[in-house]
Amino acid sequence: MNSVRIIGTGSYVPPKIVSNDDLSCVVETNDEWIKSRTGIRERRISEGENTSSMASKAALNALKAANVKPEEIDIIIVATATPDNFIPSTACVVQDKIGAVNATCFDISAACSGFVYGLNIASQFIRTGYSKTILVIGAETLSKILDWSDRSTCILFGDGAGAAVVTVSDRNKILSLYSGSVGSKGRFLVSKAVPVENLYVESNTNDNHKTTMDGREIFKFGVKTIINGVKKLLEDAGCTEKDIKYIVPHQANCRIIEFAARELGIDKNKFYLNLDRYGNTSAASIGIALDEIVRKHLIEQGDKILLIGFGGGLTYGGMVIEW
Ligand code: UT7
Repeated sequence: MNSVRIIGTGSYVPPKIVSNDDLSCVVETNDEWIKSRTGIRERRISEGENTSSMASKAALNALKAANVKPEEIDIIIVATATPDNFIPSTACVVQDKIGAVNATCFDISAACSGFVYGLNIASQFIRTGYSKTILVIGAETLSKILDWSDRSTCILFGDGAGAAVVTVSDRNKILSLYSGSVGSKGRFLVSKAVPVENLYVESNTNDNHKTTMDGREIFKFGVKTIINGVKKLLEDAGCTEKDIKYIVPHQANCRIIEFAARELGIDKNKFYLNLDRYGNTSAASIGIALDEIVRKHLIEQGDKILLIGFGGGLTYGGMVIEW
């Protein structure tokens, strides 16, 4: 089996900043409620950019950091719940935009766990020797699937993209992997695609396609996933919390992280958070946070970090990485 490592990261968020105060003009809410219940101060919202555009910018940043040319990429995986189109995949659109002419391209749908699912899939392709260099992107334009009249969901989310280049290594740097899904709880976070309307079924124009969520159920699931995932990933990597420089969780809600950190007996400052500035960007969130850590030089070669994601599906996944 080949060894695997991440050699470059990149991210992109749209320039438009929307504060909690801005949202209080859209729905009945206020800065104090949003900050105290979620930790979010502001988020980025696309002004016309679609998912492939943000994904391509994050990808080019990651390729530059990795010193890899687009034509050297064997596979592009885009994790997204908000593709530009049903067909072609966002990955194929990104391929064309960045000139990755030799890549096989496909999207995956795992909501907020998408980026770690993508890294996991990439590492399997590399381990088996099928591929050498893979671009994994988590990218979302969640603003286009939100119900902007529902204050319990629209205040949480933002747009953006994170990317990583994964390649063959002389020593394995992915020390443990973890993933799973609970389809029976899928109803707790839903964004519908088009309903069945065809020659035989009349259209139902009342059908709501926007995102709906049972916040409390997702909250409980998030806390449980982080607790179980961190324990399992540490055990499988043969290390303890003390060996980990940062835990990079899905950026959903700082109270989810506080609950999990307390239960795990881990200092909450070990969890890297940027959700105050970006909100929850679903599949992009861990990728954006990882890139920020790298660009701020918060980790050095040899440091270990733990990624842990959870979200719609319901899905969960994580990994311990040595940098
Ligand atoms: O990637 C995964 C995506 N999903 C998540 O991460 C969501 C996880 N869940 C959460 O983050 C939290 O459940 C929320 C932040 C969504 C909600 O927080 P909560 O503490 O569970 O609040 P709640 O739903 O129990 O609502 C409490 C009150 C309600 O009013 P009443 O019934 O007590 O009068 C809500 O109507 O807060 C009200 N409320 C708001 N008030 C001001 C709900 N949303 C808002 C709002 N502004 N935006």
